[in-house]
Amino acid sequence: MIEALNEIFSSNRVKTDADSLAHWGRDWTRNFKVAPRAVVFPDTVEEVTALVRWAGRTQIGLVPSGGRTGLSGGAVAGNGEVVVSFDRMNRILAFDPVDHIARCQAGVVTQQLQEYAKARDLFYPVDFASAGSSQIGGNVSTNAGGIKVIRYGMTRNWVAGLKVVTGTGEVLDLNRGLVKNATGYDLRHLFVGAEGTLGFVVEAEMQLAPLPDPQSVMVLGVPRLPDVLAVLGRFREIMPISAFEFFSELALQKVTAHRKLKRPLAEAAAFYALVEFDRANAEAALTLFEDCVEKGWVTDAVLSQSDAQAKDLWQLREGISESIAPYTPYKNDVSVRIAAVPRFLEEVDAVVRAAYPDFEVCWYGHIGDGNLHLNILKPAALDGTVFYERCHHISPRIFEIVERHGGSISAEHGVGLLKRDFLAYTRSPAEIAAMRALKQVFDPHGIMNPGKLFPS
Ligand code: MLT
Ligand code: ZN
Repeated sequence: MIEALNEIFSSNRVKTDADSLAHWGRDWTRNFKVAPRAVVFPDTVEEVTALVRWAGRTQIGLVPSGGRTGLSGGAVAGNGEVVVSFDRMNRILAFDPVDHIARCQAGVVTQQLQEYAKARDLFYPVDFASAGSSQIGGNVSTNAGGIKVIRYGMTRNWVAGLKVVTGTGEVLDLNRGLVKNATGYDLRHLFVGAEGTLGFVVEAEMQLAPLPDPQSVMVLGVPRLPDVLAVLGRFREIMPISAFEFFSELALQKVTAHRKLKRPLAEAAAFYALVEFDRANAEAALTLFEDCVEKGWVTDAVLSQSDAQAKDLWQLREGISESIAPYTPYKNDVSVRIAAVPRFLEEVDAVVRAAYPDFEVCWYGHIGDGNLHLNILKPAALDGTVFYERCHHISPRIFEIVERHGGSISAEHGVGLLKRDFLAYTRSPAEIAAMRALKQVFDPHGIMNPGKLFPS
């Protein structure tokens, strides 16, 4: 096998040492077995094609690896697969100054594209805490969301074209940056969010947006969770918003301790909403805040007075994931329609309180998109496997509520290994059958990220 890989890739671009296998063989999850047989680092689309053809002949699975910031085990290689790292395919190949499209290799880092756009007085609006290491190919393959979805949508909205290598080694050049293209199935969108199970994204043509107006950030203390939604409703009536996030007091305690940040408000509240909007609407936001206090929804708020202060307030939300990572949390990333959020939350909270009386439960998320992150924190003394199994066992009770509300068991983190057994809570048997049939068309040898997405 190594000989065959060395023939495709020059030396140094095939690694088999234990450290490399451990490093490139997994994402940010820590619960799954990591056991790849090699890691390869292609430079070109042709090398990816040659590798896929070889894997088809030998029936050896391939696992794509981007920035490895995934939270569902989508980039974990646990069964002797070859990991395909896109770290070296990290260039922005072309920029179209008329259409404002940047042609990126799969390994371009999200922040690299954000800075590239900024240097041209443009904006790449998909943003999240891991933007400094996540890669465009991974973002596309998981349809990454993040903190600006309420205004700009998911990664899918910004994919103007895609070059993919399918499981048969075919190269498909999909949509080619066209705004209008009414010629049947838009295969580009099939590969967005497919988690590498149909083929690997090797290039993506990413649409850039105009630069936004200067932004302000307000953090509000909200004692009762349904009132977070009431505040959202008021903001939406009055102004366009760029972000509407929430977090609990426990989440605030974790992030302020971890990053040594000041608490935003003098008094603690059970929940906090973080809202971002055009600075031109700051006065209107203050009036709205007073209104919310009068209604009894909000106790206090702080409004950023500078970009630096806005950035500091954002840390309170963006730093949460990293601050709870030492607790190896069991992560839930669920969504329902916004109208269903209050009732949904109440029901899930009741189940969680009864099921985990001895665990810390940390709520935060993109509540303005109906997307809630529910993290169960592992007590230090409890064995990791026991903890994982217990949480996994309780998950169906949460997912039954998700299903009843017509929601999704994975809003933005993807299915990977973590949620594949629960897919049927969100997708009907007919949908899963259609998905499996598509898998068969694009990956007849079953070599593209095997074992991910579908129940075993
Ligand atoms: C976030 O919203 O912070 C990210 O999705 C990461 C996480 O959920 O921990
Ligand atoms: Zn998130």
